[in-house]
Amino acid sequence: FITSKEQFHAYLRAGGEEEEKEEKELEIQGKLYLAPLTTCGNLPFRRICKRFGADVTCGEMAVCTNLLQGQSSEWALLKRHHTEDIFGVQLEGAFPDTMTRCAELLNRTIDVDFVDINVGCPIDLVYKKGGGCALMTRSNKFEQIVRGMNSVLDVPLTVKIRTGVQEKVNVAHKIIPRIREWGASMVTLHGRSREQRYTRSADWDYIAECARIASPMPLFGNGDILSYEDANRAMQMGVSGIMIARGALIKPWLFTEIKEQRHWDISSRERFDILKDFTNYGLEHWGSDTQGVEKTRKLLLEWLSFLCRYIPVGLLEHLPQKINERPPYYLGRDYLETLMASQNVDDWIKISELLLGPVPPSFTFLPKHKANSYR
Ligand SMILES: Cc1cc2nc3c(=O)[nH]c(=O)nc-3n(C[C@H](O)[C@H](O)[C@H](O)COP(=O)(O)O)c2cc1C
Repeated sequence: FITSKEQFHAYLRAGGEEEEKEEKELEIQGKLYLAPLTTCGNLPFRRICKRFGADVTCGEMAVCTNLLQGQSSEWALLKRHHTEDIFGVQLEGAFPDTMTRCAELLNRTIDVDFVDINVGCPIDLVYKKGGGCALMTRSNKFEQIVRGMNSVLDVPLTVKIRTGVQEKVNVAHKIIPRIREWGASMVTLHGRSREQRYTRSADWDYIAECARIASPMPLFGNGDILSYEDANRAMQMGVSGIMIARGALIKPWLFTEIKEQRHWDISSRERFDILKDFTNYGLEHWGSDTQGVEKTRKLLLEWLSFLCRYIPVGLLEHLPQKINERPPYYLGRDYLETLMASQNVDDWIKISELLLGPVPPSFTFLPKHKANSYR
């Protein structure tokens, strides 16, 4: 029987009212997070990174409206490999109703540890519709998206942002406390603006300031990490963890280097074996028929456009390699090392032929990330 006002209130809290949702927490303090990477961050690539020590992985950005329309190629982006033990998916969209609907659908249909909103995407196609980075300037819509998605998800909701849209006009520090209030469990900050793209270095002092402001909500820092020294410096900035994008594409063994605090002078043979494993994972994932072989080849070539930027430790004058340094032409210590350092698409195709056989007649390839064909 209810005999007091307190009991009556307790009764209301327990059942009379809608039950409060449990606090959603993401246990990823100090972890190494492989960034969501459109095209390159496919499942076979993520398997490679997991083997080298990536802790957290995320699917490639999926477009909310494509998911709602039932496009199977978009749903394929949400697949998880069983080795991905802390795995999230990333959504892009511009409107609270579609994003919330989509989150509801994902909540019912897929098994993930978190859902991330892409509020960093700089590309025109997304930005002009009000999605990606544009949400940083549409705070009402942004709020409704975070609140809406959070109310329907049983897993934590995270948000990936940039410093702002314009260079020199940082707004992340103003938005972060609000994102926390709206109920997000974590923020990842890429220390560059939309305008800046990849020019100049990520602003880690600003990331540090934002990490302080975000507390007690965890903030992951992202930008320019290519060595364990870079990672150590980043961790000293007071972030909860670090996210790595191009560094993982250029040298997926970076996760091992960070965990073992060393430089790994990896041989060309060992690197070739990584490519062999990727090829096998690709054929397993996309199929070993002609279509699967060519899909695997295309994604291998996309990856090779980053891998060729690795400079072997044994050849460096100054350790460690910096992500924005472009080396002069150099010869490797063996034929394979020289071939892997080539910036020439024809040489990437040659590597793909060593693994997947000859390319079909009149085959051409242009890397998606044009920033990499820096010839
Ligand atoms: C090929 C490529 C694809 C990317 N795709 C995504 C994506 O789908 N979602 C996203 O939030 N960021 C994406 N990014 C941005 C990265 O996640 C990361 O924020 C950025 O590259 C800075 O980190 P880095 O200096 O370690 O490369 C992409 C970056 C690259 C190079």
